[in-house]
Amino acid sequence: MGGVTHLIVFLSMFSAITLMSEAQYLLAVTKDEPSRQYYTTVYIGSAAMTSPVNLLIDLGTNLTWLNCRKIKSLSTLGLVTCKSSTCKSIPGNGCDRNTCLYRQPRPLGKNTVVTTGRVVQDNATIFTTEGGQPVHIAPSRRFTFSCAVDKYLQGMAPPIAGVLALSPGEFPFWRQMTSAFNVIPKFSLCLPSSRYGYFFMGTPSLGGKKTVPMTSTTLKIDSGKYLISVRSIYVDGVPLTLDPSLLEGGAQLSTVVPFTVLQTDIYNALAQSFTLRATVILWCLSGVS
Ligand SMILES: *[C@@H]1O[C@H](CO)[C@@H](O)[C@H](O)[C@H]1NC(C)=O
Ligand SMILES: *[C@@H]1O[C@H](CO)[C@@H](O)[C@H](O)[C@H]1NC(C)=O
Repeated sequence: MGGVTHLIVFLSMFSAITLMSEAQYLLAVTKDEPSRQYYTTVYIGSAAMTSPVNLLIDLGTNLTWLNCRKIKSLSTLGLVTCKSSTCKSIPGNGCDRNTCLYRQPRPLGKNTVVTTGRVVQDNATIFTTEGGQPVHIAPSRRFTFSCAVDKYLQGMAPPIAGVLALSPGEFPFWRQMTSAFNVIPKFSLCLPSSRYGYFFMGTPSLGGKKTVPMTSTTLKIDSGKYLISVRSIYVDGVPLTLDPSLLEGGAQLSTVVPFTVLQTDIYNALAQSFTLRATVILWCLSGVS
């Protein structure tokens, strides 16, 4: 008996591994100017009648939300009921007359500014890739998001009508799509300094562009945030003298804050060291002339 059980376990493990497709799915990323906001376009609705909706890319949002008035055809849109397993598995969900509700912070507001919306499901269409280029429209898949009213879009660039959730949590867009298409649950983002970039899901490669030199840094995930550890900061080759505990928490990656934000003590040390070095360099330059 023991031998048979082992064989079955082995076979099911084998099939679980081989069923996972090597395919890659793609969405184009656009940088809006002058807001410096990154967004992508998700096609929502049945494949026959999709509505393009531009969504702000946010690594901190747990559930995608958007202005559902942008969806032209409501034939495939469905409300998620409070009793459904989908509603129960969304952390921090609420309930209003049997409709699942979700409250979450808005990426561009202070932490106290939240958006509340009904949780719905509709189909989304994305592209499959070959050598990093979009080649086919993948069959549409259902995905879960929440509907928000116009006023929550305040602060976003005019083309944008919602937020694409890319947090490390349970229900972000990338997790829903990689699970629906049965591909490796990974994504890569290539944010452009101007105009267009890419957002890939599935096999981790930047569209076969193997010539791009890459240095890798270990990513840590903590309380729904992506973090990298910073060990020291140098100014003109000289390390800042910092209390090491200041760097302990790590640095959070963000796609919505356009500039690096430093804790006050770190900022002061950097500014002081920078001013000192800049003065030395200026003094040298004037000494030469
Ligand atoms: C919506 O997606 C589901 C799979 O998640 C699929 O079975 C269904 O055919 C899609 N519906 C439309 C109208 O594209
Ligand atoms: C997202 O979910 C994680 C884990 O459930 C939680 O720690 C985090 O605070 C949530 N983030 C936001 C912005 O709601």
